Amino acid sequence: MKAIGLYKYLPIDHPESLLDLEVETPVATGHDLLVGVKAISVNPVDTKRRAPKDLVEKTPKILGFDASGIVEAVGPDVTLFKPGDAVYYAGSVIRQGANCEFHLVDERIVGRKPASLPFAEAAAMPLTTLTAWELMFDRMGISRAGAHAGKTVLILGGAGGVGSIAIQLAKKLARLKVVASASRPESIAWCKGLGADETVDHTQPIEGEYDFVLCFSSSDLYWPAFPRLVKPQGKIGMIVRTTKPVDLAILHDKSITVCLEGMFTRSTFQTPDMAAQHALLDETAGLIEAGLLKTTLTRNLGNIHAANLKLAHKMLEEGHVTGKLVLEGW
Ligand SMILES: NC(=O)c1ccc[n+]([C@@H]2O[C@H](COP(=O)([O-])OP(=O)(O)OC[C@H]3O[C@@H](n4cnc5c(N)ncnc54)[C@H](OP(=O)(O)O)[C@@H]3O)[C@@H](O)[C@H]2O)c1
Repeated sequence: MKAIGLYKYLPIDHPESLLDLEVETPVATGHDLLVGVKAISVNPVDTKRRAPKDLVEKTPKILGFDASGIVEAVGPDVTLFKPGDAVYYAGSVIRQGANCEFHLVDERIVGRKPASLPFAEAAAMPLTTLTAWELMFDRMGISRAGAHAGKTVLILGGAGGVGSIAIQLAKKLARLKVVASASRPESIAWCKGLGADETVDHTQPIEGEYDFVLCFSSSDLYWPAFPRLVKPQGKIGMIVRTTKPVDLAILHDKSITVCLEGMFTRSTFQTPDMAAQHALLDETAGLIEAGLLKTTLTRNLGNIHAANLKLAHKMLEEGHVTGKLVLEGW
């Protein structure tokens, strides 16, 4: 089968940073689905995992953590899906990724593709939806039924992949007052179109005090500002790893809670509640079909091959993508 992979971890402009390859088609065992991949979306986790380092793989490393496609075959323990089902999912970082024609994924982290979305539009959604949903509703305890309606949320990085779904969840489900950060006319308009009540420019000092702050940008950068940006007894949600020790004491006077989200935690540690991601993606499919949430796809870069994938990595590394980048078809 066709796959895009790497042996060496190189800058994206290097000719061997991502390669078009032929590899063996895998076989589904246990809880695995073998999915015929129709479309993929690209995330900063791809660029971070591809980042230059002194390691040479003996067998090709295949990245790719957002996909939609058709179930081709199932392992003997599979109960949730059957061949022919259309699915979407974000996969796992401890296995080969979805930048390949046929991909193995555990059924417990897969959802049924929203019937109202074509494959490309669906592939844009899983990783960022899992991240924003788990952070806001599971970790921070924001009510998705509207019990916190009217409280304020600041979304740092509102127009990015995660911000684009977080704005919708905060507005449509939680019914919060949403202030999203965006620095360019295009990203400002995108945030407003998704439902943000206001935008603030993250290239300038950000004012105000919020019940919830969702940080989808550098945690190191924003940490010193958190005591000022969060109300007493408020909560911060972070999804980007800090790169140095942080001073918790600065949050103590206001009794601020810090919540961390890793959307690969469940699949990496095979937690007993791993199938919560299956349920979450199925519920999201229903919300999309009902017209409550919309796809965050902004650019379809064309067929799935190394040249187009390199373009997506390059755009993400530049740090100003609005919404989601998708590749479709072989
Ligand atoms: N822990 C997890 O499970 C998890 C899951 C998903 C993502 N992540 C991480 O979360 C981060 C965001 O992911 P993403 O997919 O949303 O990335 P993305 O789509 O590449 O984010 C791009 C956005 O970042 C905004 N931005 C640029 N500089 C900023 C700044 N100084 N402050 C605030 N926003 C800024 C840009 O807005 P303008 O163009 O308007 O400047 C742009 O809209 C990445 O580091 C990613 O690896 C973690």
